[in-house]
Amino acid sequence: MDSPSGFTNPPPGCPAHQGMNGSGPAPVERVPLHGPEFAADPQRFYEFLRQYGPAAPVEMAPGVPVTLVTDYAAALQVLQSPDLFSKDSRRWRDLNEGRIPHDSPAIPMMAHRPNALFSDGAEHLRLRQAISDSMAKVDTHRLSRQVERISTYLIERFSTRGTVDLIDEYAQLVALLVINDIFGCPPHLGDRLAEGWAKVWSGEDAEAGSKQVGDSLVELVAHKRAQPGDDVASWMTRHAAGLSDEEMVQQLFVMMGAGADPVRNLIGSGLLVVLSDERFFGGQYGGALLVEDAVDEVLWNSPPIPNYAVHYPTQDVELFGMKLAAGDPVAVSFAAANTDPSLSASRQMLSKRAHLAWSAGPHACPAKDPATLMAVGAIERLLNLLPDIELAVPVENLTWRPSPFQRGLVELPASFTPVRLRTRTPDPSQPKAAPQPAAEPARAKGGWWSSFLARWR
Ligand code: HEM
Repeated sequence: MDSPSGFTNPPPGCPAHQGMNGSGPAPVERVPLHGPEFAADPQRFYEFLRQYGPAAPVEMAPGVPVTLVTDYAAALQVLQSPDLFSKDSRRWRDLNEGRIPHDSPAIPMMAHRPNALFSDGAEHLRLRQAISDSMAKVDTHRLSRQVERISTYLIERFSTRGTVDLIDEYAQLVALLVINDIFGCPPHLGDRLAEGWAKVWSGEDAEAGSKQVGDSLVELVAHKRAQPGDDVASWMTRHAAGLSDEEMVQQLFVMMGAGADPVRNLIGSGLLVVLSDERFFGGQYGGALLVEDAVDEVLWNSPPIPNYAVHYPTQDVELFGMKLAAGDPVAVSFAAANTDPSLSASRQMLSKRAHLAWSAGPHACPAKDPATLMAVGAIERLLNLLPDIELAVPVENLTWRPSPFQRGLVELPASFTPVRLRTRTPDPSQPKAAPQPAAEPARAKGGWWSSFLARWR
């Protein structure tokens, strides 16, 4: 229903409407994208924001103003114009002039770190090439096998119970352990990394978790310099870009930070689609839609990184009639751009991959193929091993993390017929052994990673 100003009624809890009068919202009233109302129904907020034009004034955290691009064409223009829109947040005027609260949750997401995500031009190219060349060397068959093994190992640990939280006990651990594997982590370092990230994400001990991750990565880099292996971290240390130890740690940090959490959320949201949508639920019993389709649906409609790609105009610019001041942050809403109504007619015709969930332009995700493979592999393995799995709560009862930077379920409780699995992959070089009764799943004594390695080696 439209308001007298011609604006659709604002989403519940949105204070921006307080500034509305007959001529539209006052520009200083920013729409808050933090808090439970946004997390409960982000599309309603995007719909409201579209009425400002291609971009709208929002708050990404209390006291953190950002211009958010919601229009697909404008998003591409920002993402593909690195001369006009810099990623280097040392240009962030509000931060430089002391207007951003020191403990703001936006700071870890937006403040500068010396990595590919926050750099431009030649420096970006150098860092990015070390990352993308090394990621490109990942062997897809090996990765698929490892995703299957890690998924199996985790499923074995809860399969006899009949209930599980698919986020905490599955999606999050698959993401962390597969990235440990890609980096070639030795057991003790992989354990400490998984534990450190879990602390960061729980928010309970984030500072200590972040330090634990940083310290572990320093050790990992030293280890890979001394004993290189066939893994992404080793390939990066030997890349022609010649990264220093500090540069290595920073790039590995952003790869894990920008990688594991969205993979967790893609697996979680993909599982929700498969388990709650008739078209996919039917899929398990002969329906037409595949797990890949569920993952594509999430990437289009509910991307794991819904709003990010924060850029800073290098000079005062005008974009689709909007005035943007140099140094004022402009972010891209991948979620809103993907569901831009101007695309609706052409969306089906566009390439399946025309969504912006991986961003676009020079900073587009360098790991989209392995990340897709991880999500599809983990979902398929779960459905194969526990074919009658179903949600244990109504969809309306599920809650989402209250952050504009990520779209992730808090938990995803599910139930299934308890089953004792016997899934150790046979070694084709060995003669077939007589069938054995299934062993109790091993307990993670040292930590998740060392316990997984012990199980499969
Ligand atoms: C579902 C999983 C993933 C999604 C949805 C995703 C999405 C994205 C997006 C939207 C960006 C652009 C961010 C921005 O410009 O602000 C990005 C960048 C990046 N991603 Fe991913 N990503 C995923 C997984 C991964 C994984 C597994 C890795 C590495 C192991 C990774 C490494 C990176 C890096 C290093 C960048 C920065 C690239 C640059 O600035 O040049 N991502 N990703």
